[in-house]
Amino acid sequence: MSTQHTKQIQWYPGHMFKSIREIREKLKLMDMVMILLDARLPLSSMNPDILKLIKQKPAIILLNKMDLADDDATNDFIIYFKRQGYLAMKIDAQNKKNINQIANLAKVALKEQLAKERAKGMQERPIKTMILGIPNVGKSTLINALANRKATKTANRPGVTKAQQWIKLGDTFELLDTPGVLWPKFEDEKIGYHLAITGAIKDHILPTDEIVRYALHFLKTYYLRRLIDRYDITSDMTYVEMLDHVGEKRGALLKGHEIDYDRVYQIILSDIRGGQLGGITFDRQ
Ligand code: G4P
Repeated sequence: MSTQHTKQIQWYPGHMFKSIREIREKLKLMDMVMILLDARLPLSSMNPDILKLIKQKPAIILLNKMDLADDDATNDFIIYFKRQGYLAMKIDAQNKKNINQIANLAKVALKEQLAKERAKGMQERPIKTMILGIPNVGKSTLINALANRKATKTANRPGVTKAQQWIKLGDTFELLDTPGVLWPKFEDEKIGYHLAITGAIKDHILPTDEIVRYALHFLKTYYLRRLIDRYDITSDMTYVEMLDHVGEKRGALLKGHEIDYDRVYQIILSDIRGGQLGGITFDRQ
């Protein structure tokens, strides 16, 4: 990645430190945490500091947006995380898929502690938990799904303090209403591209043409059939030929029949983000 882009991506360290400090404080109140990752990019959406931050606190990993990911890859990542000692499962917070099974997984993660408490004759009590994840991974959507309430749009506005509330979820959970926002770390340029393609970071952070170039190259390498089916391209087309082809097919043209590349970029990105090319996973183990 060029120095210019690297510089652009060094974002708000001030907010990140504040957020980490706040999470560290809140962690003291928790029995366990839920680490929310994007199933399309389980590695890129994992802030490497999370695991250091939570230390010995029991945790479960939830791979959200499973509806947009490649299911085989998601299943492989569940095994990958299990090998690393973390219980993991896939969910779709938007369509409330697998949400009811989260409680069971949490109980497994807390098995020893709960057994100790039972042995001491303590009453079963709600599990105190919070959701941690990078922006846009679906934290608010998951809180709403767990609370079984209508989705409310909660913007990530740093500096706006919200009253902290616990939501009681049946007998199982007491969930902190405010998610812990962690920022992704761009340890290599692929991470930046994966976050940008899926819309986890704003489009202007990396140049759109570079994002699309990376995306098409990736799709050509790993999901060629889908690319051919969707855009009717041929495998020998160059990058620019593919753009031209999509532009003509979709009528993304300027006056004088020139290709409107900005529109072509948006068509391709919105197709990928909306699942029009099927479930895609960008991170490879
Ligand atoms: P955050 O709190 O972590 O920042 O994320 P938030 O819940 O706001 O979710 C970010 C976007 O991801 C939202 O879309 C949300 O609907 C979508 N989303 C969350 N979970 C899932 C999922 O499992 N599958 C899919 N396909 N999408 C999911 P948005 O376009 O920003 O808003 P809207 O479409 O809800 O209006």
